[in-house]
Amino acid sequence: MTFRIEPMAGADAERCAELEVLLFTGDGPWSAEAFRAELVAPHAHYTVARDDVGQLVGYAGIALLGNSSQPESEIHTIGTDPACRRRGVGRALLDELLRRADAHGGPVYLEVRTDNDAAIALYRHVGFEIVGTRKKYYQPSGADAFTMRRSGSREEQVQ
Ligand SMILES: CC(C)(COP(=O)(O)OP(=O)(O)OC[C@H]1O[C@@H](n2cnc3c(N)ncnc32)[C@H](O)[C@@H]1OP(=O)(O)O)[C@@H](O)C(=O)NCCC(=O)NCCS
Repeated sequence: MTFRIEPMAGADAERCAELEVLLFTGDGPWSAEAFRAELVAPHAHYTVARDDVGQLVGYAGIALLGNSSQPESEIHTIGTDPACRRRGVGRALLDELLRRADAHGGPVYLEVRTDNDAAIALYRHVGFEIVGTRKKYYQPSGADAFTMRRSGSREEQVQ
């Protein structure tokens, strides 16, 4: 499968919401309206993967936070269509978010369900480490989350 990475458009919100229901049932899947709100939020960047016929097969978003002396970023979401897993879509989306985070500077944080082995493996692959646990973070499921952190590229250079 070939795919391309592009900025998310307003017209992608319905498809993203459809995938959310498949991927995050019980953990508060985002509505199309929530995606549209994120798309106009300051400091947020959303990206999608499309296959060779233009179908959206993955999406991801990040918020670039903090200020110029203490920048940091937070990954908000990432998901791949279950029919298109293990073909590099998630990694390519994450690389795009991290490219933006590295240009912004500072560490990158995210939350992930403690039982989500696939996502934890993906995040470890690109340098994230578990730095904490948040009990009952997800609702309504009540599932626990790990907080993961990846050092900023400039931070690594000075250590
Ligand atoms: C996590 C997720 C985005 C990965 O997407 P993907 O497109 O299948 O990921 P990739 O094909 O780019 O995989 C990249 C690497 O991640 C790791 N990985 C991905 N899925 C994995 C799995 N099921 N088991 C173990 N490792 C896995 C592997 O290291 C993989 O590299 P490899 O295939 O060369 O071994 C996808 O499983 C998903 O959408 N899950 C549901 C939504 C979700 O949980 N999002 C994260 C919320 S915090």
